[in-house]
Amino acid sequence: MRVLISDKLAQEGIEVLQKEGFEIINEQPSSQEELCELIKDVEAIIIRSGTKVTAEVISRAQKLKVIGRAGVGLDNVDVEAASRRGIIVMNAPGGNTIATCEHTWAMILALKRNIARAHPSITCGEWKRSQFMGKEVYGKVLGIIGLGRIGREVAKRAIAFGMKVIGYDPYITEEVAAKAEVKLVSLEELLREADIITVHTPLTNDTRYLISDREFSLMKKGAKIINCARGGIIDERALYRALKEEKISGAALDVYENEPPGGDFPLFEFKDRCVFTPHLGASTKEALSLIHISEPTRLGMISYAVFCLK
Ligand code: NAD
Ligand code: MLT
Repeated sequence: MRVLISDKLAQEGIEVLQKEGFEIINEQPSSQEELCELIKDVEAIIIRSGTKVTAEVISRAQKLKVIGRAGVGLDNVDVEAASRRGIIVMNAPGGNTIATCEHTWAMILALKRNIARAHPSITCGEWKRSQFMGKEVYGKVLGIIGLGRIGREVAKRAIAFGMKVIGYDPYITEEVAAKAEVKLVSLEELLREADIITVHTPLTNDTRYLISDREFSLMKKGAKIINCARGGIIDERALYRALKEEKISGAALDVYENEPPGGDFPLFEFKDRCVFTPHLGASTKEALSLIHISEPTRLGMISYAVFCLK
C-alpha cells in the first residue's frame, strides 16, 4: 500500500504509517499536473491546506481509497467527486483548535496594541511611544461568527479579558451558546454591536463572502475584523473598500482567497492598520502532533484510517 503525503506533516505521524508497513511517498508537488502524476498509483493521500484535491485530480487516482486531511477544513477537497468514486474523506477535527484560538488572540492583541508596527520601528533605533498608543480589549464587545470548537475557545479567553461576547451561528442552540457564556444574536445585530469581529466558520457555499459590502456598511465605525478561518469568508475587495473608506479601522488575516496572496496583494496597502500572517493558525508543534486529542480518540482515528486502507 502506498501513501502519498503531499503537504508537510509531523514526523511522528509519518512513523505511525511506516510502522503499519505502508510505503510512504513524502513529496510536495509544485503543480496540479505533478500532483496528478503522483496520485496515480497510491491508495491514500494525506494533505493539509496546500494540496487541492479537485475532481480532475480524483479522476486520475486509479487506486485511491482514502483522502486524509491533517486538519479541519475540507474546502480544498472535492468531497462529492471523492464520494462518487467511493473514496473515504476524513479530517482531524479538534487537533488544532487551541493553536488556532491562540493565533486569533495573538492577532487581536497585535492589532489593538500595534505590535507589528512597533517591532520594526524599535529595531531600527526609533523610540515612538506616542505613535503606537493602543486600545484595550477590556469592556469591549467581541462578535464571534461560527461558535464551533475554535469560536468557543476564543470566547472563553475573551471572557477572561473582561469582554462582552456575542455570537452568530445558525446551527447551535441557545443552551450551547449560554454554556460558553456567549449571547446568541442575529448576524445583523452582531455586525452593528461588535467592536471586534472574528470569523470561525468553514468555507461553504453559504459562507463564501458572508462578509461583504453590505455587512461592512452595518459595522460600527472603527471596528476591527479578524479571519483565521478561511480565505473567501470575507470578500477581500469589500474589505479593501471598507479600509480605504475608513469604515473599519483594521483587520488581521491569516488566510486568503488565493494562497499565497503574493507581494502585490492589494490589502498590503493598509499594512500599517492590519496584521498579516501566512496561514499559521494551526502551525504549532502541539497541533501537528494532535497533542490535545485524547489518546483513545487519537488511536481510534489512526485505527480507522488504517482499517479503511487495508
Ligand atoms: P467547527 O466545525 O467546530 O465550527 C464551525 C462552526 O461554524 C460550527 O459551529 C458551525 O455551526 C458554524 N457555521 C457553519 N456555517 C455557518 C454560517 N453560515 N454562519 C455562522 N456559523 C456557521 O470548526 P472549527 O474547528 O472551529 O474550525 C473553524 C474554521 O477554522 C474552519 O474553516 C477551519 O478550516 C478553520 N481553521 C483554520 C486554521 C488555520 O490554520 N488558520 C486552523 C484550523 C481551522
Ligand atoms: C485547518 O483547516 O485545519 C487548517 O487550515 C490547518 C492547516 O492545514 O494548516
